[in-house]
Amino acid sequence: MTAPVDERVMAALLFQREAVDHASLSSPLYRALLDVAIADSEAGGPCARVLARTPDGVDPIPDALALRFLGAVHHLVLAGRAPDLARWFPTAGGAFEPGAGDPGPDFRAAVEAHHEELVAGMARGVQTNEVGRCAPLAVGFTELLRRFERPLALLEIGSSAGLNLRWDRWRYESADTSWGDPDAPLSFTSNYRSPWPDLSAPLGPDDAVASRRGSDRAPIDATTEDGRLALTSFVWPDQPERHQRLAAALDAAVAVPAMIDQRDAAEWCEAELAEPVARVTTVLFHSIVWQYLGSATRHRVKAAIEAAGARASAAAPMAWLRLEPGADPNAAAELRLRTWPGGPELELLTYSGYHGHPVWRA
Ligand SMILES: C[S@@+](CC[C@H](N)C(=O)[O-])C[C@H]1O[C@@H](n2cnc3c(N)ncnc32)[C@H](O)[C@@H]1O
Repeated sequence: MTAPVDERVMAALLFQREAVDHASLSSPLYRALLDVAIADSEAGGPCARVLARTPDGVDPIPDALALRFLGAVHHLVLAGRAPDLARWFPTAGGAFEPGAGDPGPDFRAAVEAHHEELVAGMARGVQTNEVGRCAPLAVGFTELLRRFERPLALLEIGSSAGLNLRWDRWRYESADTSWGDPDAPLSFTSNYRSPWPDLSAPLGPDDAVASRRGSDRAPIDATTEDGRLALTSFVWPDQPERHQRLAAALDAAVAVPAMIDQRDAAEWCEAELAEPVARVTTVLFHSIVWQYLGSATRHRVKAAIEAAGARASAAAPMAWLRLEPGADPNAAAELRLRTWPGGPELELLTYSGYHGHPVWRA
């Protein structure tokens, strides 16, 4: 046995246990594993020995140490390296019901057996690419197709693996309007609510997107097995709908190239937005990224967008589309749009759940 973990690590475990109980994010399996990790950390067991080696520079609560640890454990399970623990993970063909069996012994044994791998895994920041956010984003993209009647040149910051840069490959259905290929591998048919967003557009999926390019400070390559495993490991194991969406999007992404540059958002915007581009609508967009940019970066990104907006013209229009927390971050995300030439402030188009369900017109 070793010493119990320090109080900041314990605070991060307790914070995360609270968070996984939150109604919209509930994960009974992670709740049970966190209970084990907390008890084990107090007792100086295998979880304490891993968590005591928190990577340098990682602040346990803001850097989501508990989710890094659980993500690393999930990664082991998905890679087939912890078969006994896998029987509790729905993503590996297992099952977990609170009160029906205790995953604790298998969990502790796997943590003990894979100590070094888990320590290395905790160095990776939690990163999800939520393709469900295409449901609200599509409201903005179709609005731009109606407004300017020309293809979109997509530029995304904080793209992660760039799955949302492939938004035009999926199908969307609101009340009286729909958009996209009815045979698409992924469809959003029950996301929209009254007041219903308008998804009509003069261009269809064959013509809507002229180009797609993204950036992230730590991009994930959606087309490799390693990238697939990394993204899958950060989605909680008992959220089957998110896993199905992610798997469908990852399969489809292989056939739709999208370059994701490893660059800081500010530098990238300044470079990519330097010249107006004719015959397309240039769309700088982002979803659930703004809060992760420091205030200096936010200021530079906004300045680069506004400078590009000032250079835009009827021949080369420009748009800023953002899906980010609203005034009450616990309530809903807000999809806002500003267009140039001449756009006034960021208009509020829709509200949305953080994973793209439900979506309703503002
Ligand atoms: C919560 S994820 C959202 C990913 C994606 N936009 C989505 O909606 O699924 C935030 C992303 O922003 C990226 N990020 C954070 N700070 C950044 C920065 N300064 N420059 C570029 N990317 C950044 C992270 O690496 C991460 O991929």
